[in-house]
Amino acid sequence: MQEIELEFENSAKFAAKMDAADPLARFRERFFMPHQPNGEEVIYFTGNSLGLQPKTTREYVDQELKDWETLAVEGHLHAKHPWLRYHEFLTEQMARVVGAKPVETVVMNSLTVNLHLLMVSFYRPTSERYKIVIEKGAFPSDQYAVESQILFHCDAETPRRGDAVKKRLIELTPREGDSTLRTEDIVEAIEREGDSIALVLLGGVNYYTGQAFDMQAITEAGHKAEAVVGFDLAHAAGNLELHLHDWNVDFAAWCSYKYLNAGPGGVAGAFIHERHANAVDLPRFAGWWGHDKKTRFLMGPKFRPIPGAEGWQISNPPILQMAALRASLEIFDEAGMTALRAKSEKLTSYLEFLLSEIDDDRISVITPSDRTQRGCQLSIRVKDSDRSLHDRIVAGGVSADWREPDVIRVAPVPLYNSFSDVLQFVEILKRSLKV
Ligand SMILES: Cc1ncc(COP(=O)(O)O)c(C=O)c1O
Repeated sequence: MQEIELEFENSAKFAAKMDAADPLARFRERFFMPHQPNGEEVIYFTGNSLGLQPKTTREYVDQELKDWETLAVEGHLHAKHPWLRYHEFLTEQMARVVGAKPVETVVMNSLTVNLHLLMVSFYRPTSERYKIVIEKGAFPSDQYAVESQILFHCDAETPRRGDAVKKRLIELTPREGDSTLRTEDIVEAIEREGDSIALVLLGGVNYYTGQAFDMQAITEAGHKAEAVVGFDLAHAAGNLELHLHDWNVDFAAWCSYKYLNAGPGGVAGAFIHERHANAVDLPRFAGWWGHDKKTRFLMGPKFRPIPGAEGWQISNPPILQMAALRASLEIFDEAGMTALRAKSEKLTSYLEFLLSEIDDDRISVITPSDRTQRGCQLSIRVKDSDRSLHDRIVAGGVSADWREPDVIRVAPVPLYNSFSDVLQFVEILKRSLKV
């Protein structure tokens, strides 16, 4: 990893100097920034929840509305970007964002739906190997999805279904006194439970702590135990540099409304490693959009999946949502994940530096200080605080979020946030702490 050798300074002049030297600063202009009631721009640090709207989104969506208006059903074949193959226009760019081959990548559905579809294929419990490894405190949707998959495989007659989940779920917990998991402990748990593990399913970045996991080491450990390894990349896609193919990950799913700026409810992504591309015998929930493209419209009764990730599609896709995602992915392609990540490390390290200068021992950062173990988000714990602290920060002009009982999550996003944003945020936080 490239070392950051910067000497940071706590001054507006220094932040302005960093912004002037930032090769990605021009991308801020490509997004609509929300405004406060007083007309000033919001300091937007919630791109980890909903990314900003690219200024090109409207044009991309309008193009599809126009084609629908003028071509109606003919748009499937004759729209500027024919709807029949619309998802294909996104594949290569999305593959680059997550370090995958196009054959391994598809844009479809939403995140939890994709997790379910992938578990249908890749969680195949047997009487000896049936456990799933997750993080304790995983995003609730993942927890619900995993538990319901476990129950789905239980006999309907299984008594005490709660006990069935307990027996089959391994929840990784940080050591006493730690806020985050240690890679060696994750690996050790996988080794210990080895023969009984069917699936390891972790987040790439934990939504609460902001901890990024060593996906390569976890995948290796999972495979050594002969388990399948998948990741929920909701907080990692567009945030970290990912190499899903090279890391040998079996499958992954992510949403596009956070760092990928595709708008509320944006269409999600899925990755299935090339080695499963022709695994036509894997169980899957099939639909006509996953059927061989050459014969799909012959409307035959036998399902023949498209090789690769596309074969997991079920329905014809939401074109308007995909148009919005195209607008954003073009920006990602222009900026490049390597450059984005290089800026992100500096930006978040600057935030960490300024927080360390606050003379208030109620404050701690629960996100790891090791830059390889985090993305752009820092989760700031403020002891004995309550939601009113967050409300004061918001009133000061910041968009940040509050997680019970005492955590403020802030995500300076390298595509549209600046070093001056970071400095201003910390000034507002300091003022808000004094009340
Ligand atoms: C880590 C994680 N998993 C799952 C979800 C649920 O996503 P969806 O509602 O798109 O299924 C989210 C949503 O924020 C998330 O952050």
